[in-house]
Amino acid sequence: MAAWGDERRDDPAPCREQDHGRFEVTQRDGRARLGRLHTSHGVLETPALLPVVNPNIRTIEPRVMWDKYGIQALITNSYIMWKHEDLRTVAQRDGVHGLLDFPGVIMTDSGTFQSYVYGDVEVGVDEIVAFQRSIGVDIATMLDVFSRPDMKMAEVEHAVRETEARAAQSLEAAGTTMLNGPIQGGVFRELRHISAQLMGQHDFAVHPIGGIVPVMEQQRYKDYAKIMMATLPLLPPDRPVHMFGCGHPMLFPMSIALGADLFDSAAYALFARDGRLLTPWGTERIDDLIDWPLLMPCVAGTTPADVRAMEAEAKEQLLAHFNLEVTLAELARCKQAVRDGRIWQLAEQRSHQHPALREAYLWLTTSPSLQRGVRPEKFYTDRDAARDVDRDQGMWEDAWDWMVWSQQTPRVGGVQWGGDDTFSRPHIAKARRHLHMRWTHDANMEQAVIFHGIRGPFRERINDLLEWLNIHHPNVQPMVLTPLGLIPASLEDLNPFAHLDAPPWVLRHEPEAAWIERELQRLGMNDVPFATVDVAGDGLKQRLAASLTTLGLHNDVHAPLTLEERDEARHQLRIKQGQDKQMVLLNVGHEVAHDVMNGATFVVNREGRMKNINNAAGEHMFSPRLRDGGLSMATAGAQALFDRRSEALPSALPRTEWWGHSGQGPAVVIVDDDAEPFVRKGRNVFHGFALACDPWLAPGEPCLIANQTGEFLGHGVSQCTSTELACLSKGIAVKTRGGVRR
Ligand code: GUN
Repeated sequence: MAAWGDERRDDPAPCREQDHGRFEVTQRDGRARLGRLHTSHGVLETPALLPVVNPNIRTIEPRVMWDKYGIQALITNSYIMWKHEDLRTVAQRDGVHGLLDFPGVIMTDSGTFQSYVYGDVEVGVDEIVAFQRSIGVDIATMLDVFSRPDMKMAEVEHAVRETEARAAQSLEAAGTTMLNGPIQGGVFRELRHISAQLMGQHDFAVHPIGGIVPVMEQQRYKDYAKIMMATLPLLPPDRPVHMFGCGHPMLFPMSIALGADLFDSAAYALFARDGRLLTPWGTERIDDLIDWPLLMPCVAGTTPADVRAMEAEAKEQLLAHFNLEVTLAELARCKQAVRDGRIWQLAEQRSHQHPALREAYLWLTTSPSLQRGVRPEKFYTDRDAARDVDRDQGMWEDAWDWMVWSQQTPRVGGVQWGGDDTFSRPHIAKARRHLHMRWTHDANMEQAVIFHGIRGPFRERINDLLEWLNIHHPNVQPMVLTPLGLIPASLEDLNPFAHLDAPPWVLRHEPEAAWIERELQRLGMNDVPFATVDVAGDGLKQRLAASLTTLGLHNDVHAPLTLEERDEARHQLRIKQGQDKQMVLLNVGHEVAHDVMNGATFVVNREGRMKNINNAAGEHMFSPRLRDGGLSMATAGAQALFDRRSEALPSALPRTEWWGHSGQGPAVVIVDDDAEPFVRKGRNVFHGFALACDPWLAPGEPCLIANQTGEFLGHGVSQCTSTELACLSKGIAVKTRGGVRR
């Protein structure tokens, strides 16, 4: 039997011809995505790290990368091959895969980076692309013009315009070879915008973000984050984004959270040459170590002292293996975090490893210019220093919207409190926006009673009181105060609000009147008189009575309800819950939600919680979900919302995402005639079969499906935003939950 690591892996199967160059998204967490890029040397799973292989100095043999580490793609430099006669001859004779002895995906760079390091390169724009094509690379790179962070705006603009001016001829020279279209723009937000827009209009397969190596070398990670936020929202979402020259694992979680798909690393080899070890928290020198910072497979059984005693080449080799293993392990961790919906949490944890990374993270999540007041800022009073109140003010809102609105909410599972950072996680911002934009109180509302003081769910403590209030004070809006914000009591089980795993003192903070007032304002309840009631401990009824007194209301909370009153109250509270959840979770307007609940009947479990909401004819409309407090739509509910839609159906696939809509109901997706019979049978909608959709389509949110003549076909859960629906051509667009047969 072969020793561990000596097995040979089979060569990859080429993709189907019709899929060549396509990129599909298989899982996501906000803008972080797991994808598949189809090439003739296999389907590359992303996020992926492409180790840099210098064709002259192979610190780790490409074949070892393939066989031992399962590395599916690498990057090498075509300019070096073009320049060296011996390499060029072999590459042209055996192809680049033969030259490097690597059966997977090979990307090549063009010489731009050499021009940045050594000055001009003498190769022509068409020539270098034609050369890459001639040696059979999978993904070639055009000769872009490098933009350094120290350049003046005019110089950077020239780099951006000149790069774009070369795009068409480079694509022409590439023929069917996939081509990288790098985005330049230095540290100028507007120029990154322009570059992304201009390059995005050409038919590139991948967009690398260029000019970031010096930014990373100088550890300007806030600028790195800004470059990403200025660029990615403007790129076509069906193309992978490559962070050119980014191979330090410390940057992976944040980059992936912001939407990066590909990385390349020379760092594993360069740092090894220097006796340095990469870790997810930075870099360590082998000379300083008694123990390994991480016990990677290649160093099991040795100590740093053993390795120091090795001869130079063997030591460099081993450290390169160590660095590659650490890098791959961190990438694997990020991929799992995307599957688990925790990539932002990982980015948050990693941000504590380096001050510059922390600065970048805080700029992203707490800069007031990004936030539009969505945070419960009670928790942020000590963080002014982190804020970037500079000339950026107000310029990044669109980018942050782009991030927030791609988040899935509600989610399953507890929200793990991690200090103040918890409150600015983008999926929590999204949950708050949904609530603030979509929920509206009843017209008869005059006052509010606010319960607080425990972790959700509140219902066991307050259900009797809610029933009593419903009968005796129907104009009082009951609310629940959570550390993540103020919510109507009807949403008391909704994730994330009800699911914060935090120490008791976070949950039991004294409610501050000013904060509550701001929260009420955000809910459209300006100047509404309110009183608070601590729910923890004995004497709850007395505390409610006292609060009612402060509102000038009668307070005989001990007077029992009659059985009829109790049943009526329960019915009313169920109606209210169905209505409020439709508003917040399905984007239904107040009147329509009310109308849909008219005549509704309920199936309840033994504890009296609603399992199903049926219409007057007994058809299943919705089910409140116990695990996340969400609301699942059933076919009769979807039909009811479709029938009550007042806007015209969408007639095109939007070019921009837009979430300013509230109250128009779940987004509608119009599919073509080929897809119709499948949807009617409850089968998923695939990319390429949608003709139109509403611009507020968002991943994880329910949507309605119709045909071109406006007939309702079914409903499902969208896997994408509207622009993604417009661009992507492979993969599932909508997971269909129910279809209507003819
Ligand atoms: N490698 C690192 N940065 C760059 C860049 O901006 N352009 C190209 N072509 N290669 C790079």
